[in-house]
Amino acid sequence: IAALSVASEAYPLVKTGGLADVVGALPAALAPHDVAVTTLLPGYPAVLRSLDKPRAIHRWPDLLGTPARLLAGTLDGTHPLLVLEAPVLFARDGGLYTDALGRDWDDNWRRFAALSRAAADLASGAVRGRRFDILHAHDWQAALSAAYLRYAPGPGTPARTVVTVHNIAFQGRYDAAVFADLALPAEAFAIDGVEYYGGVGLLKGGLESADAITTVSPTYAREILDPAFGMGLEGLVAAHAARVTGIVNGIDPAVWNPATDAALAARYTDRTLPRRAANKRAVEAQFALDAGDGPLFTVISRLTWQKGMDVLAECLDALVAAGGRLALLGSGDAALEHAFRLAADRHPGRIGVRIGYDEPVSHLLQGGADAILIPSRFEPCGLTQLYGLAYGCVPVVARTGGLADTVIDANEAALDAGVATGIQFNHVSRDELHTAIARTIALHATPDRWAMIQRRGMRSDFSWAKSGLRYAQLYRGLCTA
Ligand code: ADP
Ligand code: GLC
Repeated sequence: IAALSVASEAYPLVKTGGLADVVGALPAALAPHDVAVTTLLPGYPAVLRSLDKPRAIHRWPDLLGTPARLLAGTLDGTHPLLVLEAPVLFARDGGLYTDALGRDWDDNWRRFAALSRAAADLASGAVRGRRFDILHAHDWQAALSAAYLRYAPGPGTPARTVVTVHNIAFQGRYDAAVFADLALPAEAFAIDGVEYYGGVGLLKGGLESADAITTVSPTYAREILDPAFGMGLEGLVAAHAARVTGIVNGIDPAVWNPATDAALAARYTDRTLPRRAANKRAVEAQFALDAGDGPLFTVISRLTWQKGMDVLAECLDALVAAGGRLALLGSGDAALEHAFRLAADRHPGRIGVRIGYDEPVSHLLQGGADAILIPSRFEPCGLTQLYGLAYGCVPVVARTGGLADTVIDANEAALDAGVATGIQFNHVSRDELHTAIARTIALHATPDRWAMIQRRGMRSDFSWAKSGLRYAQLYRGLCTA
């Protein structure tokens, strides 16, 4: 099976969050199942720079109003990569979706509609020498490709389509006026098409058009049937429920493995856990923390409401009073960044805060901290708890989405059975998070139990093996249907 995976980011080239990790890992995850994945990305400066002797394999004189070329390269030296070079749309300084001040580019609809149109052309044989059975579009930035294939396919046989929802909170909603420039037939502006509350919905139009819809955990697949999680799309998801599946993300062992990780001060396995102490000392040095007996917590996160960071900020005095310490790495809402800086000022030596984005430091924190706090209000899958499991950094998580599916709470029964891998709590409130932190501190004070939880987590299956197979089965089912 030949699959085209289309997304707005992919590790190691461009990343703002977990989407990039998953898109970057999919080719290797699917290869063992006889699926050859080609990844299509926008030609941001960083992506173009990564191409070694790029070859232009196709030209569009006018792709939604702008000239564009398709360049061929590799994602990581092995897996095929196609890059949509369209300087008017993508050759910009700033973020992937925002300018340097954090404001959304006002032509994001055109940028990602163009990516989606190019994907649809590829997936219907318009580019010589390229043929795909499956078009797999990720999130709102790529979802419209399914609508293009449905309403305006290219010359050949259109591929079957899968749209994966990594986060239904981000939908790509725009004014109805943009419809005229999407180059879709008038019939597409319909209630079962791209029309959405009188405007245009890129994710909505893609979901209406896809042959299959997936999201990144079974629990999130159920949650988005509920208005509290569906963010307005719950009715659509319910109407298409027979075509919706939840497939949990795995982690890429080439990138996240404590036995081989070059970002760590000391490498280790589940049999050499005491070596983590050297990583903890490195974290203490980098975050200006005093040594201590209580657990060293970490946070590696976008600092947003979704991630429950406002609630965490309110728990920090209690965390310190109970004997905990915290090393936080993150960036996001200015008010939250400020709140965490203030907490660090109040608790020198106990709370260390690094505002920013730093991939190597995120690895060191997983390898050195005792526990990672993830109090998300919703979490489609979540990857940092999986990295925590793999690194013996015990996840302390809200019971939602993928967090509910991947962590086993250390209640008495699970401890007795030896299956506990972390701590869960029900509602993201100050009281519940506070209680979870207190439970963590108490468990950590029992070193045997704590090491058992760490080892059980490290031995649990967070690989792509099962999920890679499930995607391959989904693709095969669509191809033979
Ligand atoms: P989301 O995609 O919703 O942000 P995930 O848990 O799926 O959440 O993925 C987040 C990814 O981004 C992980 O790879 C995590 O390690 C990384 N990450 C988040 N914040 C930072 C940061 N400040 N520095 C480095 N890596 C970060
Ligand atoms: C989104 C979600 C996150 C998920 C990631 C990768 O960013 O917020 O929960 O892990 O996508 O699927």
